[in-house]
Amino acid sequence: MGSKGSRLFASYVAILVSVFVMIGFVVLPYANGNEIILVFLAVTIGFIICLILIYHLFENYIKPVVATSRVAKELVKGNYNARTYVKPQGEAAHLSNAINVLAKSLQEMTIQEKMQGSQWKTVINNMESGLMLIDERGYVHLVNRKLLDLFGEKSVNYIGYLYYDVLSQVNIQKVVQETFLYEEKIKSSFVKKVGNEKRYIEIVGAPVINETNELKGAVLVFHDITELKRVEQMRKDFVANVSHELKTPITSIRGFAETLLDGAMEDTELSKQFLTIILSESERLQALVYDLLELSRLEKDELKLTQKRIEIHEWIQGIITIAEQQAVKKDIEFSYTIDEQISLNGDADRLKQVLLNLLYNAINYTAEKGKVGLVIEETKDMILFKVRDTGLGIPESAKNRIFERFYRVDRARSRNTGGTGLGLAIVKHIVEAHNGEITVDSKLDEGSTFIVKLPKHL
Ligand SMILES: Nc1ncnc2c1ncn2[C@@H]1O[C@H](COP(=O)(O)OP(=O)(O)OP(=O)(O)O)[C@@H](O)[C@H]1O
Ligand SMILES: [Mg+2]
Repeated sequence: MGSKGSRLFASYVAILVSVFVMIGFVVLPYANGNEIILVFLAVTIGFIICLILIYHLFENYIKPVVATSRVAKELVKGNYNARTYVKPQGEAAHLSNAINVLAKSLQEMTIQEKMQGSQWKTVINNMESGLMLIDERGYVHLVNRKLLDLFGEKSVNYIGYLYYDVLSQVNIQKVVQETFLYEEKIKSSFVKKVGNEKRYIEIVGAPVINETNELKGAVLVFHDITELKRVEQMRKDFVANVSHELKTPITSIRGFAETLLDGAMEDTELSKQFLTIILSESERLQALVYDLLELSRLEKDELKLTQKRIEIHEWIQGIITIAEQQAVKKDIEFSYTIDEQISLNGDADRLKQVLLNLLYNAINYTAEKGKVGLVIEETKDMILFKVRDTGLGIPESAKNRIFERFYRVDRARSRNTGGTGLGLAIVKHIVEAHNGEITVDSKLDEGSTFIVKLPKHL
């Protein structure tokens, strides 16, 4: 029994005692002799019966009701942990159980609500897009973490402010105004400068409309589309480059064919000269188309390496013969240092393509009487191919770019060598497919060294 309950019970007992004392005082003057004992006995028994009744009533009805009302008050205050622990029988039992069930449901509902709330918060904050919620009067109510990253501000600087006071870009303000005006989804984009970088942001405004079709505000979603723009630009550049590269040999083939038809055909010597040019230009065209196809195959991840154990001393023979032939033509001194014991896992044909491309470049971009050297050596877990020349060299600014498609340090010179500008792009793809890497060390007018590092085990 709680202290409040015992006090209540004590007061009921006190009332009962007073009532029976009064009855005693009223009845006793009328009794005499043995009647006094009888009256006293009757009053005492009556008192005990009443006491038992009160105790029963108190335990089974009054106490549970008091406890239940206490729990109800706690629930009103929001304390859903409160429970009534009395275990009575009868009607009061239903009441106590009902209030306990109610408290339990309320508790579960609050836990679920809290969980849902935190789930939403997590989702909103971890979204890849920036998010802002504006009410119908234009005040900002919610911003997520990505938006803060995009604009580099703190949320306190947004929440509670009018959108046009915190978002200075005219395009964003226009999107909000049009979303409110037309009550439909509005798209736009703008450029944001972050340090030296330009970031392209797409913004989508959507109206928030309630069940009674009233406009309640707008949601703004910000997507960073810089990467998309970059890819789009690359695609455009690629198409422009391909068209340009194809145009040159086609124009020249057409020109010489027309000249031949216009009468030059009669002159055997001239015809031979023109046809030779047509042949070499069509070979260039064929090489270009072949390289483009090769590159597109490599980039589509279709590159399936035919892996096997490559014994360097066998594999290198053909490559050296070709390099020597090429070098002799330009009177270039070709030397090589190869650790004949080396063997590695990889695609023999593809790796041959890598080395030949590098050796061709070294010979092509080195003046007559220059030197080209090849070194193949191994470290603990790598195989290194080093192709060194004493040629033109590559300026610092171009070192990273020479692996891009169609990039040439000097277009005119490269075209004279018949180059398409795709060789190193292909080389890089093949090396990376072998989990290796390619680097270049070069000094303008002194020479270059290309280093391919391949893991011994793929
Ligand atoms: N060893 C080198 N020395 C100097 N410049 C080089 C060397 N290797 C490559 N380059 C530069 O890098 C550019 C890109 O080389 P890449 O091999 O990709 O194309 P390319 O040789 O012009 O044509 P191809 O596709 O026929 O090989 C070359 O145009 C050249 O300017
Ligand atoms: Mg090349």
